Amino acid sequence: MREPSSNNESNNNSSSNASSSPPPSPPQALLERLKDYGQEDAFAFWDQLSSNQQNYLVQEIESLDLPRIDRMIRCSFQSHGLPAAAIEPVPEGSVSTVEDRKLEDRERWWNMGLKAIADGKLAVLLLSGGQGTRLGSNEPKGCFNIGLPSGKSLFQIQAERIHCLQRLAVQSTNEGSANVVPIHWYIMTSPFTDGPTREFFKSHKYFGLEADQITFFSQGTIPCVSKDGRFIMETPFQVAKAPDGNGGVYSALKYSGLLEHMSSRGVKYLDCYGVDNALVRVGDPTFLGYFIDKGVASAAKVVRKAYPQENVGVFVRRGKGGPVTVVEYSELDQSLASEINQGTGRLRYCWSNVCLHMFTLDFLNQVANNLEKDSIYHLAEKKIPSIHGQTVGYKLEQFIFDAFPYAPSTALYEVLREEEFAPVKNANGSNFDTPDSARLLVLRLHTRWVVAAGGFLTHSVPLYSTGKYTTFHNQTL
Ligand code: UD1
Repeated sequence: MREPSSNNESNNNSSSNASSSPPPSPPQALLERLKDYGQEDAFAFWDQLSSNQQNYLVQEIESLDLPRIDRMIRCSFQSHGLPAAAIEPVPEGSVSTVEDRKLEDRERWWNMGLKAIADGKLAVLLLSGGQGTRLGSNEPKGCFNIGLPSGKSLFQIQAERIHCLQRLAVQSTNEGSANVVPIHWYIMTSPFTDGPTREFFKSHKYFGLEADQITFFSQGTIPCVSKDGRFIMETPFQVAKAPDGNGGVYSALKYSGLLEHMSSRGVKYLDCYGVDNALVRVGDPTFLGYFIDKGVASAAKVVRKAYPQENVGVFVRRGKGGPVTVVEYSELDQSLASEINQGTGRLRYCWSNVCLHMFTLDFLNQVANNLEKDSIYHLAEKKIPSIHGQTVGYKLEQFIFDAFPYAPSTALYEVLREEEFAPVKNANGSNFDTPDSARLLVLRLHTRWVVAAGGFLTHSVPLYSTGKYTTFHNQTL
């Protein structure tokens, strides 16, 4: 839909084109439908709109699935006020810890994972619909260059890891590349990141991958609502909308037909991850092998929480002996976040979510329906741009980990943060999770690899960012 000018062109000064002269009142049937859901205020400025703006508003309202949105608002408001079931830590034994893993298990899982990849059973899915507001960038986060000597963007780093994984899968078979299916990369965008993301990939020639092994799809948006559940109007003819959270991936996969697309390609497992971890091991064969070996429907990588206030969700059990799920950092009571397990001396809620999850395709086929049936969204209180300036209201979001309570079984797999978790969340100058801190984590890990492989460094990696880069012999990071 093309957006007409919002500078309040009135009926009187609108174009002289007779065909665009405004109808005298809003279309009755549409107005009645809005009334059914208490949203008729969306037409409050009708008389002041130009005909183009009226047409735009009509199309906008017609494009909304009002019964579905009404159910989301009602169910989310109802559950918002209710006390959630108490949480308890996940039992220690339910996590595969780094300490407990034996070399032979790791090797077995690596081989199982690589075999599944070579057989085309794994696809990877990147969650890239977030707007990167905290990072202070207008581009999609994946375009961000964290300042590595190579200047690679987050997208390029991930693409090259997929490329490398494909190579490993080919090498692991005796058949050569002809029979190995390329790893398919599904990239979820939002209406705010879709165009620039596609353009970025195209202009970089898909970073050496085949264009047809990448599928872009967009998550949905939901109207932002006031505290009494009414649509907030961004302009007199536009409803304020926001992406439906990274858990929007489930309905986006369902409605775009991509679950069938995966199935027709023989995909059985989906590795989902966030765009903003510079150390993400995309499609890690050991994790995949572990997942297959366990025979679970869902799994997640976890790291030990660094300190109580760290901005990470933690894995918990909801209710006595209830399902494993995540409580987001914004929703965890601070006193619970600081509780210590007297036996171990560690935080009671210590297993942090790094936004890297593995699912079976079978489970994904069921979960979108379950989430839709319950229609419970997190209400994120935000300042929303509106005709009245910045209005405090709610964005409705689902989180990717909202699926876990529906899973018949979930396994957690610990990884070391210095090897696999370098979040890029905030602009440089902030105290944590910045491009600078992520770059250092990458450089330090790669330094260890170079040294372990018998190489040496011409300069040392700084403990803090200096703006100068370390160079290695024959190696560009
Ligand atoms: C996320 C996790 C948090 C975890 C942390 C680790 C969620 C909801 N929270 O927090 O538990 O500890 O990462 O770094 O997963 N995204 C979309 N669409 C959206 C919103 C976000 O695709 O509508 C994507 C982002 O592009 C990003 C990922 O989801 O790749 C995480 O989103 P973000 O909102 O930045 O989550 P965090 O607050 O960092």
